[in-house]
Amino acid sequence: MADILITPSMLSADFGRLQEEVDSIEPYADWLQCDVMDGHFVQNISFGVPVVRAIKTKLPLDVHLMVSNPEDRIEEFLELPVAHITFHAEATTAEDRPALIAAIRNAGATAGIAINPETPLSAVSDVLSDIDLLLVMSVHPGFGGQAFIADVLEKVTAARKQFPDLMIQMDGGIDTKTAPLCIAAGANNLVAGSAIFRAKDRAAAITSLRGG
Ligand code: DX5
Repeated sequence: MADILITPSMLSADFGRLQEEVDSIEPYADWLQCDVMDGHFVQNISFGVPVVRAIKTKLPLDVHLMVSNPEDRIEEFLELPVAHITFHAEATTAEDRPALIAAIRNAGATAGIAINPETPLSAVSDVLSDIDLLLVMSVHPGFGGQAFIADVLEKVTAARKQFPDLMIQMDGGIDTKTAPLCIAAGANNLVAGSAIFRAKDRAAAITSLRGG
């Protein structure tokens, strides 16, 4: 398996010192995930464009849109230098996904689709061969610090078997115990919030998630 990317999730950072928090993981992480939540698709409200715009980092910004009607949100994020945008299968229909993917790519970013724990892989079979990244959620989106849902691993294994070169990201409850399960199933991009931002040594936490 190609290199495992580690993507810290900003949701678990101290929002009162956000730039310092990002600076603390920048030398060790591969991507930085911006968890955008609208209080409608998920219960929680986190942050939007103003916060993403304020972050100064050399890390590729991975915007995870946990929002309803992502087609209405894409433009404002695509005006920022974001590297990747993921929208949720549960917030879209097969009809509107191609235009969403095209809009993201035309702006120079890569496009991902996310599936919640209860959503089967078949729900995104229409786009899997066209998408740059599949995000398999291992918690119900909305909050950090939740327990890992191991049942989703079979979706990762099935997707990896079907798409050997696809970037498969997992997100939720990933720590030193669950990271090896994700990697063994075929994930090659791990999102972690608590396991990194609550760690005393964040560099060591990132290295251990990567399997180091
Ligand atoms: C949940 C977010 C996750 C979360 C991960 O809705 O999308 O990225 O912040 O946090 P941990 O790693 O603590 O489960």
